[in-house]
Amino acid sequence: MTSLPLTIRHELPVDQAAIERLHERAFGPGRFARTAFRLREGVPADPALSFAAHVGTFLVGAVKVTPVIAGGHKALMLGPLTVDPAFEGRGIGAALMNRSIEAAREAGHDLIMLVGDAPYYARFGFRVIPPGQLVLPGPADPARFLALELVEGVMAQRKGAVTSAR
Ligand SMILES: CC(C)(COP(=O)(O)OP(=O)(O)OC[C@H]1O[C@@H](n2cnc3c(N)ncnc32)[C@H](O)[C@@H]1OP(=O)(O)O)[C@@H](O)C(=O)NCCC(=O)NCCS
Repeated sequence: MTSLPLTIRHELPVDQAAIERLHERAFGPGRFARTAFRLREGVPADPALSFAAHVGTFLVGAVKVTPVIAGGHKALMLGPLTVDPAFEGRGIGAALMNRSIEAAREAGHDLIMLVGDAPYYARFGFRVIPPGQLVLPGPADPARFLALELVEGVMAQRKGAVTSAR
């Protein structure tokens, strides 16, 4: 980590255009068809659990967390997590992840899911969900469907469909 003057704070309405530009750059127009995107469609991310990283006034990264239903229980879907390519590899993704996870824990949530690269997210405690235990409403590589228990043992009690919290 360099001595960047990095600040992490809750995302604000004023951040949304810059966050959308990061998403466009990282995922392109195909992002709207992704299963995780469809789960979040029409449901606002929880601003108490979603964070933006700034260097000065420049937004360099963001993470969103959205409420969903998993096996009939409230749960969270994390993503997208994006960091500006010019600022990658400096711990900004990790700082955003740690803030979101801590905020979710403090708010009393018990399960965070995401669709992403297991080798990256394992460092935060995310594990592959046993195939078929929770079912997304669209195609996703089972090896990329991950969960972090905020309450030990909660995953074993979560079985069935993952649906939008709409
Ligand atoms: C993935 C991403 C958020 C990481 O942000 P970052 O600020 O560079 O992450 P950090 O600085 O906290 O961590 C960097 C470390 O993660 C590793 N890493 C980054 N992406 C990885 C991946 N997809 N798989 C495994 N490891 C990965 C780096 O090699 C580096 O490893 P090191 O610590 O051993 O040097 C960023 O690269 C990004 O926005 N990518 C495009 C969008 C994306 O894929 N988002 C995730 C899916 S929702």
